[in-house]
Amino acid sequence: MITIISGKGAPGSTTTLAALAVGWPAPVLLADCDPAGGDLAPGWLGQWVVDGTIRTDRGVLSHATATRHATAGDPATLIEHVQPVPSARHVGLLAGLTAPGQQAAVGAAGWTRLTSALAAFRTTAGQPADALVDLGRMSAATPWSLLLAADVVLVAVRPTQRHVLAARPLLAELAERIVPARLGLAVCATTPAGTREVRAALGREVAVEVPADVRAAAVFSDGTDAGAVPSRSPLLRGVRRAARRLHGTYHHYTPAELRIPALPASARLLTGGVR
Ligand SMILES: Nc1ncnc2c1ncn2[C@@H]1O[C@H](COP(=O)(O)OP(=O)(O)OP(=O)(O)O)[C@@H](O)[C@H]1O
Ligand SMILES: [Mg+2]
Repeated sequence: MITIISGKGAPGSTTTLAALAVGWPAPVLLADCDPAGGDLAPGWLGQWVVDGTIRTDRGVLSHATATRHATAGDPATLIEHVQPVPSARHVGLLAGLTAPGQQAAVGAAGWTRLTSALAAFRTTAGQPADALVDLGRMSAATPWSLLLAADVVLVAVRPTQRHVLAARPLLAELAERIVPARLGLAVCATTPAGTREVRAALGREVAVEVPADVRAAAVFSDGTDAGAVPSRSPLLRGVRRAARRLHGTYHHYTPAELRIPALPASARLLTGGVR
């Protein structure tokens, strides 16, 4: 489970996660867990929402409602709330909340049930599936269960002073509860020099580096070009490399080993950095 969170300023978390999911070399669950409301369905996948292929009433909220009498999340139930992404069939979407007010209906217990269901998730063919989780911006509503259970937590940041300054207090807060080996950066809309600066300024390793590419980014954030995957774009070419490396790092390990806190695999992932 890889979770991305940001400070202020919309650095590009949702765009990065959508692109990572498209570039993921295996089945992957894209979970829109932004408590302020999800952007994947109305943004990237908006045209399929409009034609009814993707339903916004199936996702985080419907899972919380359906499991409200359960004590723990059951992956078999979760799959009923996941929908295939029409333009990337290996991606399953857990659609997000449609309004910030809905997070009160999910509640801490609902997020905790979702966390355990995500950790044990299997595809319809019974294969373990990775999960990429969008937590939006850090706030009082942030579901900490998803941060604490993640194999890696990445703070999204752009190579600008404003974003670096916003990321600092967030990293400090996360570092109180998450071991350094599990905490890294996703540098969005960047260049190689920008990424080096961010790494130096924040003193954390970079697990994902996303090139600045306005046109391809707008597909994932806003559904331009009818949400068609921009396969040959610089953005997707860059993100595919990160996706393959992240996937390769984790699939040397069994799920039981992945829950050990001091994780050697994360250490390798994060010190491997972006070349
Ligand atoms: N790699 C990139 N290159 C150029 N533009 C980008 C890139 N990534 C994201 N953007 C643009 O930045 C804007 C914000 O992106 P996005 O919605 O993904 O940010 P976010 O961090 O998820 O924001 P929020 O905090 O509102 O959830 C969008 O217009 C998007 O197209
Ligand atoms: Mg977002």
